[in-house]
Amino acid sequence: MQGESGPAARRGRSSDIPPPNWRDDRQRLLRLSFNSLRRGHIIPSMASPTVSEKPLSRFLLTGAQGFIGSWIAKTLIERGADAWVYDLDQEARRLRALLTGEQLERVHFIRGDVTCAEDLERAIANHGITHILHLAALQVPYCAADPVLGARVNVLGTLNIFETARRHRDLVRRIVYASSQAVFGPEEFYGGGTVPEGAPLLPNTHYGVFKQANEGNARVYFLTEDISSAGLRPGTVYGAGRDRGITSGPTKAIKAAVAGRPYTIKLIGGVDMQYVRDTAEIFIRSAESNVEGAKVYTPRGEVIQIEEFLEMLFRLLPQARQNVRAEGQPLPIAYDFDDSALVHDLGPAPRTPLEQGIRETAEIFERLRREGRLELSDLET
Ligand SMILES: NC(=O)c1ccc[n+]([C@@H]2O[C@H](COP(=O)([O-])OP(=O)(O)OC[C@H]3O[C@@H](n4cnc5c(N)ncnc54)[C@H](O)[C@@H]3O)[C@@H](O)[C@H]2O)c1
Repeated sequence: MQGESGPAARRGRSSDIPPPNWRDDRQRLLRLSFNSLRRGHIIPSMASPTVSEKPLSRFLLTGAQGFIGSWIAKTLIERGADAWVYDLDQEARRLRALLTGEQLERVHFIRGDVTCAEDLERAIANHGITHILHLAALQVPYCAADPVLGARVNVLGTLNIFETARRHRDLVRRIVYASSQAVFGPEEFYGGGTVPEGAPLLPNTHYGVFKQANEGNARVYFLTEDISSAGLRPGTVYGAGRDRGITSGPTKAIKAAVAGRPYTIKLIGGVDMQYVRDTAEIFIRSAESNVEGAKVYTPRGEVIQIEEFLEMLFRLLPQARQNVRAEGQPLPIAYDFDDSALVHDLGPAPRTPLEQGIRETAEIFERLRREGRLELSDLET
């Protein structure tokens, strides 16, 4: 039994109190809908929303000028929800490539730094944020080049998210944060085959260690503050907008094929290819879920060798055969994971076949090329 000041008591109290920071005249609707909100349901907006029909779930997406966040914003907007994009970067290049002008108007932009508690505080309180999807981070090469900055953004930034949510616990219903398969060590640590749920974390990059620290801190926030969260550990996410990080090679190879440019993937061996539309769906599903605890899920896509990926690419886009190749070392991270915890809590995960994901990605790149908007500078890195 929990005492008066324990988690159950805190839960009971907060369910009676409407969020304090929604400074508008929709209080009656808010109260009517608040139980649905507590259960984590996204309440869709109507086709032509009036002020009182606005959706009640308010999603803050940190780092959503980046790749995965842009797709999450797109998915939310397509469902009639609103999205608040919180990023240091104010250049909505990826969002403009993915959304129509009308959809873009539904995105609210906040310039903010996850390392700055005051920025986050303002964003969450002023906009009545109910769900935080935390993606802002520096990727593997940037953490390797500047581990102190990497820790500031990836670890302290994530602590700031949890601290701000703690201070606004009557408002924020759910935190979902991006972890990574990089919390695991190389394949040989696990003896080959599918790595089971609960396998030891043995990261051998600073980035992986930072993600592991975030998972540990999330666990502590649940134990000490009763703050539930879900950490998602994607693998090699691919799709339009992926242009940074150690595993961006396959997406760049698709782009090079469309543009008729030479490109070398600097990676060989096994990867777990996850189409970004599926990744976005899993983030949103985790946000809608009301499973309690500090949950950590390892999504699974299509496990494949880079050499097989290239063969598939050449079959779909034969012009790539002359220009695109792969060389280098395998990833220092296992790539074949059991996703049963995710399936148990969230249901069967979307898993777009790789061939379809490559086709869809190539179609977006082709459309951007025709419109003169295909950015090619990332193929040089
Ligand atoms: N892309 C993948 O394959 C993959 C795989 C595993 C995990 N992840 C994780 O998923 C998340 C999103 O990845 P992505 O590929 O979209 O990354 P991305 O590099 O495309 O986007 C990251 C975004 O974070 C923003 N950002 C950086 N520092 C910030 C700060 N201090 N304050 C606010 N915003 C800041 C950047 O401006 C950028 O828009 C990251 O946490 C990443 O570690 C990605």
